[in-house]
Amino acid sequence: MARRSRSPAPIQVDREAATIFRRRLHSWFRRHSRDLPWRHTRDPYRILVSELMLQQTQVSRVLDFYRRFLERFPDLHALAKAKPQRVLEAWEGLGYYARARNLHKLAQHVTTVRDGVIPSEPAHLRALPGVGDYTAGAVASFAYEKRAALVDTNVARVLHRVFAPALDPKSGAGLRQLWNIAEQLLPRTGKTTWTHNQALMELGALVCSARSPKCGVCPVKKACASVDRYSATS
Ligand code: ADE
Repeated sequence: MARRSRSPAPIQVDREAATIFRRRLHSWFRRHSRDLPWRHTRDPYRILVSELMLQQTQVSRVLDFYRRFLERFPDLHALAKAKPQRVLEAWEGLGYYARARNLHKLAQHVTTVRDGVIPSEPAHLRALPGVGDYTAGAVASFAYEKRAALVDTNVARVLHRVFAPALDPKSGAGLRQLWNIAEQLLPRTGKTTWTHNQALMELGALVCSARSPKCGVCPVKKACASVDRYSATS
């Protein structure tokens, strides 16, 4: 009989630890988060544009592109009608042009097949061009207040350090564990999920950075399994 490789049992986060983690994280976010334009909208189109631009690209580089892109293509219909060349021109300089082509295809698909309505369920979002698990979770939670988890590079780093330092975050199994942890940490309602997901990303960007984590000012350092490893450098 063929041997099947078994996935390791999911790492369980203690319920009380999760509650304390969330409370500290959200309170820190309310005091320290950056004022970013996509945090002032619940429009799924604008959120989708921001999330696609932010894939592999730093916030500081995205800001001007985001503003100009939305000036040219203020809604899904304007984008769907545009010539491919005009869309690529608006993306020129941001790189990874497949993102622009996918966004254009997505706009055409949603306007023709879905009556112009970007879906709210992660499973439906994932079926759209260029939308993976992360972007589906982002649009569902930021635009529609869905209780959906998300894991991008920043969030993966935070969850790995805080809850599961022994796993390999680059392996498929490790990443699945991190998604599972992200799901366990979700607040009970979709209403708070916006703050929660934004806060996880913000902590990864501002405090729990890849090379020099600032453990001294980290709001969740008491809960963090890696604090001793990094504190010496922060
Ligand atoms: N990176 C990806 N999505 C982001 C967001 N909504 N805010 C800040 N950085 C991000």
